[in-house]
Amino acid sequence: MTTTRTRPVIARTRGELARALAQLRAKGSVALVPTMGALHDGHRALIRTGHTLADAVVVSIFVNPLQFGPQEDLASYPRTLPTDLAACREEGVALIFAPSRDVVYPRLPLVTVSAGPLGAVLEGASRPGHFDGVLTVVAKLFSLVQPDVAVFGEKDAQQLVLVRRMVSDLDLPVHVVGVPIVREPDGLALSSRNSYLSLAERDEARVLSAGLRAGAEQAGGGADAVRRAAGRALDAAHSVQVDYLALVDPASLQEVGPGHEGPALLALAARVGPTRLIDNVTVTLPPAGPATASLRTELAPTTDR
Ligand code: PAJ
Repeated sequence: MTTTRTRPVIARTRGELARALAQLRAKGSVALVPTMGALHDGHRALIRTGHTLADAVVVSIFVNPLQFGPQEDLASYPRTLPTDLAACREEGVALIFAPSRDVVYPRLPLVTVSAGPLGAVLEGASRPGHFDGVLTVVAKLFSLVQPDVAVFGEKDAQQLVLVRRMVSDLDLPVHVVGVPIVREPDGLALSSRNSYLSLAERDEARVLSAGLRAGAEQAGGGADAVRRAAGRALDAAHSVQVDYLALVDPASLQEVGPGHEGPALLALAARVGPTRLIDNVTVTLPPAGPATASLRTELAPTTDR
């Protein structure tokens, strides 16, 4: 499979990107998969979805300084360009945009995108300015690549909500598609930051998805039952320090009340040792009766990897 694929074009400058895009656009539609590299099977799932939506897939690889806080892991964030290129080639990516910081930010941007109140809760409460940085770089990538469709993972659920909202509020001419979370066989959501975990921490990290699953299984009992069950499961893991565990409306990201019916996002961030990880699951809170079967399938071990 690997050897039959054409090598992707690698563009590092705006000029190289424009020339390569002109060739791709002459042949058809373009899907963009924005990433920060350290590609894993979650990113590959996005690329595969891109192939179903457009004639060519473009992957951007850029560790965006604007979305990292001063105490965060910008310097140590994994950079694995050679293996990323190999992964893109295996997945039939047509074009990789791997710019330097200076290409993306020739000068410090004075005008940036504000995520507004949706960017101030959950991740935004712990990481002030994070989503302004994310949306600013995503808006720039949309401008530079002008994709017909852009593919994002549900792993970063709040990011996906905000990107959709930016596209809608600013009338950006791109179609945004979300892809379900890809998980390890034991339930841990794939993340570039999983590489920070020691063997012992990797084992402890299972409790994150297990906690979400425990909460989801109580959906039939309503919002409070979901929160209680997830909270209990996470409390039992002493080495895991929960930053937030929240059951929120999937559009407003506000905490849902006890009488809430329909979909709700059960989201968490936690430190496993020094590593901060996030995860989420969508639960459907029924008016009454048992939890729907889809809750269990969503957190079932991934087989399609
Ligand atoms: P990064 O963390 O590299 O993620 C790139 C894309 O892959 C995001 O849309 C993310 O949700 C998705 N993804 C990561 N892990 C996944 C998993 N286990 N299953 C499914 N999708 C997964 O998110 C970013 O980069 C940046 O914020 C970016 C959007 C590139 C802007 O800098």
